[in-house]
Amino acid sequence: MAPDTRHPDKLDRAVIFLGPPGAGKGTQAKELAARYGVPHLSTGDMLREHVSKGTPLGIKAKPIMERGELVPDSLVLQMIRERIERPDCTHGFVFDGFPRTVAQAKYLGELLKQHGYKRPFVIHLAIDTSVLLPRLTGRRTCKVGGEIYNIHDRPPKVAGICDADGGELVQRPDDREEVIGPRLHAYEKQTAPLAAYYSSRGLLHVIDASKSIDEVRQQVLQSVKNVRGAR
Ligand code: AP5
Repeated sequence: MAPDTRHPDKLDRAVIFLGPPGAGKGTQAKELAARYGVPHLSTGDMLREHVSKGTPLGIKAKPIMERGELVPDSLVLQMIRERIERPDCTHGFVFDGFPRTVAQAKYLGELLKQHGYKRPFVIHLAIDTSVLLPRLTGRRTCKVGGEIYNIHDRPPKVAGICDADGGELVQRPDDREEVIGPRLHAYEKQTAPLAAYYSSRGLLHVIDASKSIDEVRQQVLQSVKNVRGAR
C-alpha cells in the first residue's frame, strides 16, 4: 500500500477562497495549501496556462479574460472535474477563484458528494473594493513558480526578479486599470451572491482582508483549525 504522505495536520476537505479581485485569495490559498500539503487549485492560473499554450479552451477564454468577464461555466466545470479527480486531491485541496457563480457552487456541491468529500469550508476575504486598485495594478507574478509580489507592499529584493527562483516578474494583462472595473463589476453581479449562498448553509467564515498579509494569514489558519476541531 502507498505510504500516507499527508501533512500530520490533515485537511481532508475542500477549502474555498471567496473574495473580489485583489482580496488576497491567491496569496493566502497558496500558503494554506502548502501548509497542509494539498494542491492549490486556481481556475485563473489554469485558464492562463491554457491561454499561454493556445489550447482550444485557451483560445476561447483569452478574449473573455481580457475583457474582465467570467469564462462560461460550460468551459470551467469540465476543467474542474478533471482536476479534482486526480490522485493528488484525495486528501483535500484549496480552491482559489472557484466557484464564481451559484451554478458553479451547485455543481461543485454535487461533485464533492459524488467523491465522498466532507462539506467545503468557505473563507470569505471581505474587503472594501475601494482599496483594491493599488493591490491589482501593483501586483507582479513570477513567470516560473507563480509567486505573488506587489511593487508597493511586498516588493522583491531585486526589482523584476523572483526571490524564490530568480524567475522574471510580470504583470497580468487583466491588471490594467481599464480591465479592473469590469472585473469588479463581474464580481459584484455574479460572484458576490455566493456569500449568501454559503452563509445560508452554515459554511461561510468571514475574514477581514483589509489587514496585513500576515494578519490575514493568522485569521485564516485559526478559522481552519477551529473548523477541523469542531467537525
Ligand atoms: P483570477 O486569476 O481568479 O483573478 P481574480 O479573482 O480577479 O483574483 P486575483 O487573482 O486578481 O486576486 P487575488 O484575490 O487572488 O489576490 P492576490 O492574492 O493575487 O481570474 C482571472 C480571470 O479568469 C477572471 O476574470 C475570469 O475571466 C477567469 N476565471 C477564473 N476563474 C473563473 C471561474 N471559476 N469561472 C469563470 N471565469 C473564471 O493579491 C493581489 C495583490 O495584492 C498582490 O500583489 C498581493 O501581494 C497583494 N496583497 C494580497 N493580500 C494583501 C494584503 N492583505 N495587504 C496588502 N496587499 C495584499
